[in-house]
Amino acid sequence: MSAIDLNARASNNFVQKLAETQALLQQAGRDHAPRITLACSLGAEDMVLAHLVNSLQLDIGIFVLETGQLHAETLALLARLQATSRAPVQVFAPVQEAAIEFVQREGKDAMFTSIALRKACCAIRKMEPLSRALAGKSAWITGLRREQSGARAEVPSTDRSDPAIVKLSPLADWTWGDVWHYIAENRVDYNPLHDQFYPSIGCAPCTRAISLGEDFRAGRWWWEEEAAKECGLHVKANQIQHTET
Ligand code: ADX
Ligand code: SF4
Repeated sequence: MSAIDLNARASNNFVQKLAETQALLQQAGRDHAPRITLACSLGAEDMVLAHLVNSLQLDIGIFVLETGQLHAETLALLARLQATSRAPVQVFAPVQEAAIEFVQREGKDAMFTSIALRKACCAIRKMEPLSRALAGKSAWITGLRREQSGARAEVPSTDRSDPAIVKLSPLADWTWGDVWHYIAENRVDYNPLHDQFYPSIGCAPCTRAISLGEDFRAGRWWWEEEAAKECGLHVKANQIQHTET
């Protein structure tokens, strides 16, 4: 059974949600282009957003943080997106020397040994490349949804809490069913790992499939406590203090 068969189920007000998402993206393009970018992890939500940006012909680029630890399936999807996307797809990789030096010093399984080492790996492979991806931008777009986790339950569709950059999450109120309904209706390409019970996909070492009844993000950093389970991409300064104490 595919992820579409399992999940595609539109909310009653899906048509209205879609219209609002499209309006938000169009307005964002008018307000910020070309200083706006879509953060695409190649997960289902982000493939929907990339499809919307392309179908609305918005002047919004797409970037992917290629951590050097992505699944082969994710890399293959990246290649397909690059080949088909109207919007340019820019890839940001970690600084090679820093990634190599970290593995030599701490070992390739360092992320499992302590939260500090896991965060150090995320800092090299995701946070530093993210800062390059967002340099000079006034807005960025993410695929965050409130339903994804307790920590994300309050995600606003427009977040102005960082004075340097506006963060837009146009799918904030979409359900998982809405995401897959859109994918089915529009024949959006997606990561085949979603068909193998990987709802949320990150780096290969830090992602596993989930079983029936488990939380949406249960397969991400599964060996850690719930409160620590963010890589830093979406953690605000006050939350960082909170989780690191
Ligand atoms: S994470 O913080 O735990 O990694 P998650 O995988 O749920 O986040 O993704 C949330 C959003 O962060 C995505 O919708 C996307 O906007 C952004 N994001 C996460 N990983 C990447 C990546 N590798 N490249 C670009 N954007 C990403
Ligand atoms: Fe490293 Fe895992 Fe973070 Fe990827 S998710 S950067 S492999 S610790």
